[in-house]
Amino acid sequence: MNFESLLIHGGIDGDEHTGAVNVPIYQTSTYRQSALGVHKGYEYSRTGNPTRHALEKLIAELEGGYAGFAFASGMAAISAVLMLFKSGDKILISNNLYGGSYRVLDKVFKNFGLEYEIVDTSSGNLVEERISERVKAIFIETPTNPLMTITDIAEITNIAKKHGIMAIVDNTFMTPYLQRPIELGADIVVHSATKYLGGHSDLVAGLAVVNGSELAERLHFIQNSTGGVLSPFDSFLLIRGIKTLSVRLDRHMENAIKVAEYLRGHKLVEKVYFPGFKDHPGYEIHNKQAKGPGAMISFVIKKGYDINKFFKGLKLITLGESLGGVESLICHPATMTHASIPYEVRQAVGIVDNLVRLSVGIENAQDLIKDIENALREE
Ligand SMILES: Cc1ncc(COP(=O)(O)O)c(C=O)c1O
Repeated sequence: MNFESLLIHGGIDGDEHTGAVNVPIYQTSTYRQSALGVHKGYEYSRTGNPTRHALEKLIAELEGGYAGFAFASGMAAISAVLMLFKSGDKILISNNLYGGSYRVLDKVFKNFGLEYEIVDTSSGNLVEERISERVKAIFIETPTNPLMTITDIAEITNIAKKHGIMAIVDNTFMTPYLQRPIELGADIVVHSATKYLGGHSDLVAGLAVVNGSELAERLHFIQNSTGGVLSPFDSFLLIRGIKTLSVRLDRHMENAIKVAEYLRGHKLVEKVYFPGFKDHPGYEIHNKQAKGPGAMISFVIKKGYDINKFFKGLKLITLGESLGGVESLICHPATMTHASIPYEVRQAVGIVDNLVRLSVGIENAQDLIKDIENALREE
């Protein structure tokens, strides 16, 4: 089956008992056992739930992995993956990883002895230099949030394989429609499914997909033991969102290309970060491993311009956290999504105070451009 058909018919297609074309919401915590230990595969909904199971099977198929796991948020999924490691282990992370991933490592897992080191993963040599006995995984995002730095997934997974360590990829920005890291050698893919997979800014969810049975067993054990599972209702909503992923993303990208071009020509915009530009530093690598540029754009407004005036002037584009919804969302990484990263680290990696991140929605592109034009003007 081709990917677009898999989005709609993958995993568990409908309900075989009734013929319903959608997987029902199994709103139940527990399951009747006909005799001691005799059941139909489900005992308790933390351990397994049919609606969640349908979603987990679907994301595993979409990512080309062995098994999928659904969590109550992207951070719950990432935290569960980090629990695969132990005290004394070290993880190498991309240098502008999502702020929350950095925060959970720095403020939570560090307390339990799990260490991390920030590396520019766009350079295989720099990553290789940092490998030591204690390094057990490389955790990357590509393109990164918010600066769209590209990492060569195959290069990183080759390094990981060579040293017998794990490669973990946060695929939130691309989704499996555009990029499939497991096919490029990754061991684990994580998602904030809150974003493009859900697609409608109406749920918070996380997914993890692993490439083999051993990791599947270990991650299921952690999921069941720590319990941050996705509810049946949100699992249903997420399955529903995933069905339209390809058509949404096609339109998101069509709009993003137009908006990025417009921003690049704007005299109050100093710099635009967009993987769709031919002169983007990671353009070639990105095109080798992904089917499109995505629809996230970051840009720097000229120094001295009152950034608040710009945000206040927007009427159609919504100022808010998050991304990947049908509506365009804009944010100020320094005070919002990446505020948990210390000022010096932010400056060093380029998350400057006049950087703006735009998640281009599926509205009419001209309306979006007009909104920016009205809000970003010299006076
Ligand atoms: C790339 C990326 N990974 C992970 C997360 C965390 O996901 P959630 O907000 O669903 O917990 C986010 C959230 O913004 C994100 O952008």
